[in-house]
Amino acid sequence: MEIYQGVNFFELPPHIYAIADNAYRVMCAEYNNHFILISGESGAGKTEASKKILQYFAVTCPTTEQLQIVRDRLLLSNPVLEAFGNAKTLRNDNSSRFGKYMDIQFDFKGAPVGGHILSYLIEKSRVVHQNNGERNFHIFYQLLEGGEDDLLRWLGLERNPQKYMYLIQGRCAKVSSINDKSDWKTVRKAFSVIDFAETDIEHLFGVIASVLHLGNIQYEEDSNGHAIITNGSQIKWISKLLGVHLSILQEALTHRKIEARSEEVLSPLNIDLAFCARDAAAKAIYGRTFTWLVNKINGSLANKDLTRKTVIGLLDIYGFEVFDTNSFEQFCINYCNEKLQQLLIEMTLKAEQEEYEMEGIEWEPIPYFNNKIICDLVEEKHKGIISILDEECLRPGEATDLSFLEKLEEKVGDHAHFLTRKLADQKTRKSIDWVDFRLLHYAGEVTYCVVGFLEKNNDLLYRNLKEVLCKSKNGIIKECFLPSELDNRRRPETVATQFKNSLGSLIEILMSKEPSYIRCIKPNEGKEPGKFDDVLIRHQVKYLGLMEHLRVRRAGFAYRRKYELFLQRYKSLCPATWPHWPGPAADGVETLIKHIGYKPEEYKLGRTKIFIRFPRTLFATEDAFEYSKHLLVTRIQARYKGCLGKREYKKQKEAAIKLEACWRGALARKEAKRRVWAVETIKRFIKGFINRKNPLCPENDEFIRFVQYTYLTKLRDHVPKNVLDKNWLKPPAILEETSEMLKKICMRNLVRQYCQGITAEKKAQLQQKVVASAIFRGKKDGYLQSISQPFADTRLSEKDINPKVLQLIRGEKIKYVTPVVKYDRNGFKARERQLLLTQAAAYVVEMAKIKQKIDYAALKGISTSNLSDGLLVVHVPEDNKQKGDVILQCEHIFETVTKLSMLANKQNAVQVVQGSLQFHISSGKEGMIAFTTGQEPQIYKAKNGRLTVVSTRTKS
Ligand SMILES: Nc1ncnc2c1ncn2[C@@H]1O[C@H](COP(=O)(O)OP(=O)(O)O)[C@@H](O)[C@H]1O
Ligand SMILES: [Mg+2]
Repeated sequence: MEIYQGVNFFELPPHIYAIADNAYRVMCAEYNNHFILISGESGAGKTEASKKILQYFAVTCPTTEQLQIVRDRLLLSNPVLEAFGNAKTLRNDNSSRFGKYMDIQFDFKGAPVGGHILSYLIEKSRVVHQNNGERNFHIFYQLLEGGEDDLLRWLGLERNPQKYMYLIQGRCAKVSSINDKSDWKTVRKAFSVIDFAETDIEHLFGVIASVLHLGNIQYEEDSNGHAIITNGSQIKWISKLLGVHLSILQEALTHRKIEARSEEVLSPLNIDLAFCARDAAAKAIYGRTFTWLVNKINGSLANKDLTRKTVIGLLDIYGFEVFDTNSFEQFCINYCNEKLQQLLIEMTLKAEQEEYEMEGIEWEPIPYFNNKIICDLVEEKHKGIISILDEECLRPGEATDLSFLEKLEEKVGDHAHFLTRKLADQKTRKSIDWVDFRLLHYAGEVTYCVVGFLEKNNDLLYRNLKEVLCKSKNGIIKECFLPSELDNRRRPETVATQFKNSLGSLIEILMSKEPSYIRCIKPNEGKEPGKFDDVLIRHQVKYLGLMEHLRVRRAGFAYRRKYELFLQRYKSLCPATWPHWPGPAADGVETLIKHIGYKPEEYKLGRTKIFIRFPRTLFATEDAFEYSKHLLVTRIQARYKGCLGKREYKKQKEAAIKLEACWRGALARKEAKRRVWAVETIKRFIKGFINRKNPLCPENDEFIRFVQYTYLTKLRDHVPKNVLDKNWLKPPAILEETSEMLKKICMRNLVRQYCQGITAEKKAQLQQKVVASAIFRGKKDGYLQSISQPFADTRLSEKDINPKVLQLIRGEKIKYVTPVVKYDRNGFKARERQLLLTQAAAYVVEMAKIKQKIDYAALKGISTSNLSDGLLVVHVPEDNKQKGDVILQCEHIFETVTKLSMLANKQNAVQVVQGSLQFHISSGKEGMIAFTTGQEPQIYKAKNGRLTVVSTRTKS
């Protein structure tokens, strides 16, 4: 299979696989339907060939897990059909006794996806009678041989074919070449794969067993000569298995219902007719069950999806056969083979030669034997054998097989292929019996015995038997015998006519498909391996017309194709024809083959077709096409990808533009909104401005809030940084109050900050300044200038003081020392002295001497002028101990006075006088000091005896 798969047809030696593969590949490539006709004599190997083909497809076709089931069913439908439809004959141990046409359906990928079987005329007579050396259908023996004990018991059967009348007439129930037991196993397994339910199988074997029981029914003649059934056991089993009423069945097997006008009369049968009725029932039951089986298998092979499928049909039909005695069945079988031979001739020899002529190709006609004349002899309307047979069957009056023979002699007696004893010459007469007629078939002479022809052609089943079967409870029988059949009063078509018609439609089916042929040659008559009987083979080669075929093939052309199709397939091989050829296809093909380089002897151009002589030419072209296909595919792919890319780009571009537009729109809308908002805001602002003086209302609310907000945020950056900074942002009218409050808070805050930053010394200093302020502010010139000059702790340190003095005032803490000028109270003589202040007293010190001590408790007051001089008078009480008031002049007048007044706690006792000052010299004696302003500061004793102090005027 591997070797033949996908290889060009003529490249390898002939083989069934080559044919199967070729049909398959052409089907895939051209997407059309095919059939493979397998012909040959009985036992030549048709059925085996068809199985090989099926196996080939099963192995080589692509498949999926899902399709595996279809594959198995296709394969396993065979053993089932063979069990029920094949039998051992003298010619073949596994002879097909029915015709089979099987369609294998493929999907577009070439995977087998379903199938359908048509069956043709099963040889029913075999059910009730077999010739010597032949058997009934396999299934009976398989059941008895292989069936489980339980099953047989249930069916009422014994495991011995010898017990059954229907199985032993050929006297060879057991055959060494057939293993019924293992075949049974295969069939049982196949049933489960082909989707048979257990009840189906039960019913099926019920039918098979019933047929066996029917065969064992025996009749006896009663006193009236009527048939009666002798032993009741079989009929009981049948009644059980088929589910029919026992007594009705019994009656149906012994009586015949005659319809006279409106009455129905039961007439008893004589013993011969009773046997006939029994056999007719067995044949009908088996025959219809076989049809049911085929339908059931079709149901399981059916592909339900509706996509288009292509098919390869396999025709494996009963082969041409000749026995010692040939009956109606052989007549039908051989007629069928005649028809197929006709088809073959039509489709090959005749068609091919006619085609050359039609196409105007130079051609020397090759003579061949056309068997149409024999087909006509059998099937021609009114004049053919079948018509004569039918006529005889339907004719009123006493028609018999012999009267039929007479009619034949009368009507077709002069036909070259027909002979009877009466018509034959002396020499041949002996070989023909009085009840025989002889046909000269394409494959040889066959002598048919007319006995049974009429009965078999009529194939009648008594009405009451049909009625019984219609009422059966067995599912299969119920389906096979429908009550509607009883109502139909029309006479059914005869068997031969039915067969003729079904063959007609088969030929039609085949004609619509592309053919392939397999011709099986039977090598010997003895079913022996490895033995080739020259005479026998030569005979077959001759009648099959193989020599003529060969001659036509040799002289003819291996390949022909309509111009259109050829061009369509190979146009890619030539630039001029690819992708389109504008002119007529014939010219296109001419251009194409010129381009490829066909030599003149390799081809001929007909009227509508190109003919290629050698397979190799075509193969070369095909190979080139295979190669170019890849290039084409690449180009198509590239183009397609380009298209996709462009489409995608366009889409993206459009999307980008759309996005841009949207975005711009959004921006514009936002801008417009902003402007509207701005206009609104400005409007509100102006309105607010107009209404700013009004009390808070919706019109000015926002404006006012804005003003407040701006003022406050601005103020944040302009708050004073220190206590002395008096700048304050001017508030809008509405915020004046707030501003005031804020200012205060701010000031307080600054002050607090300032205060927190003040040290103890500084505090002391400031306290002194405060006291100074209380005393001097606005009263004495030079005060303002003094404010910024800090007070010193002392103007002289302890080392400037004489130690003796320090010794004297030990125990008192020195607080302040400053150099002073002391003026005598009387003469106003100026003397340099030190003024030394402790916490308890003030001392006027001259070198090591304390000139005067003034206890603070005794200090009466301190006076200064309002001018810028540095003169101060310390007033003391007028008592003896005290020397009198002290007149001093010091550089730092504000500092000295303040310290003194504070140490003495006499701040309130300080006075600033204007013009003159009276002072106490000694008890009862007063002096005066006059203060004036002048160019130069000076102090002197005036002529009036007063101390005169001149100061320069300071601006303040
Ligand atoms: N190619 C073959 N090689 C050997 N034996 C074959 C071959 N074909 C068929 N046979 C034998 O011949 C028998 C009959 O073949 P079969 O196909 O049933 O014949 P047909 O269907 O033509 O009547 C098979 O059972 C098998 O034993
Ligand atoms: Mg066969």
